[in-house]
Amino acid sequence: MCRSSLSCLLFSLLMISTFLHSECLQHCDAGTDQVRAGYWFSQYDHYSPVSSINASLYTHLYYYSLSLDDATSSAPVAVPRPDQLPILNTFSSTIKSSNPSLKTLLSIATDDRKNSASNAAFSAMAADPDLRASFISSALALARENEFDGLDLAWQFPSLPSDMTNLGILLAEWRARISEEAQNSSSVLLTVTVYFSNHLFEESTDDLDYPVDVISENVDWVNALCFGYHKNSNATTNNAALFDKASHFSTSYGITSWLDAGIPPCKLVMGIPAYGRSWFLKNKVKNEPGAPVVATGPRQR
Ligand SMILES: *[C@@H]1O[C@H](CO)[C@@H](O)[C@H](O)[C@H]1NC(C)=O
Ligand SMILES: *[C@@H]1O[C@H](CO)[C@@H](O)[C@H](O)[C@H]1NC(C)=O
Ligand SMILES: *[C@@H]1O[C@H](CO)[C@@H](O)[C@H](O)[C@H]1NC(C)=O
Repeated sequence: MCRSSLSCLLFSLLMISTFLHSECLQHCDAGTDQVRAGYWFSQYDHYSPVSSINASLYTHLYYYSLSLDDATSSAPVAVPRPDQLPILNTFSSTIKSSNPSLKTLLSIATDDRKNSASNAAFSAMAADPDLRASFISSALALARENEFDGLDLAWQFPSLPSDMTNLGILLAEWRARISEEAQNSSSVLLTVTVYFSNHLFEESTDDLDYPVDVISENVDWVNALCFGYHKNSNATTNNAALFDKASHFSTSYGITSWLDAGIPPCKLVMGIPAYGRSWFLKNKVKNEPGAPVVATGPRQR
């Protein structure tokens, strides 16, 4: 899995999530019986402006994304970059003009261009009660000011056991604030974008599991990133293998791990990529999966 999977999206900028299971448990009360969501990448606005999205294809669209200020500041809160502001301001109204029933969510995510600093900012924020409170307030204010129906946290990825614990605390506090706020207005949605599997591989520690119970209790649903499984491979690979008997890097493994860990099926959304990968082959004739490559291909960095 790429550490920063979403940076892999180059050609098609929408990622479609499909709902896995229609059975709804008692605590699945989001009023949503199907999630067909796409992520729209604000940094690729020039390739794919908001106005070009076919809104009738989706139930939910994510504005992806805002990041955190570096943790060196005393209050790392989400702030839009100045060039993003006008797009952020009009995203929901533009989308809804062609599909008024569509819901929009604002994703606050790791910044791919500075992955480790950005993850460190999430880690520091989640560990500190005051920073969490200020983060939650600013996120909610941004959602309200810009007429989003929900918020999403796409921290890619927590890398310490304490990050996992703190992620749970953050989501519980966030949900509490949303419920409190909902006394006077409609409740905003809260989702979390996560690793394909409930257990994180390729980290320095082997005991990294998401706190599934607290996540399930506090979010409307979880978006699992089921793609980008072999980013640095020097052979051609399946980017989003549904099955792979030889390794854990497959969608069936990941989704099963989330279900086995206890997430209600109605709160699990499988993310699929709508983009491709390319390579320069070592030998043009050897072009099957697993063929040796010399470099990543054009238009992919
Ligand atoms: C949008 O998607 C719908 C459903 O697939 C399709 O019928 C319609 O033609 C599309 N509209 C545009 C403008 O492409
Ligand atoms: C709800 O509105 C009432 C009356 O305006 C106000 O006193 C109260 O503080 C509000 N509650 C929240 C959670 O915003
Ligand atoms: C790349 O190829 C070399 C030589 O075949 C192999 O030893 C190495 O494990 C490969 N690396 C990856 C990331 O696949």
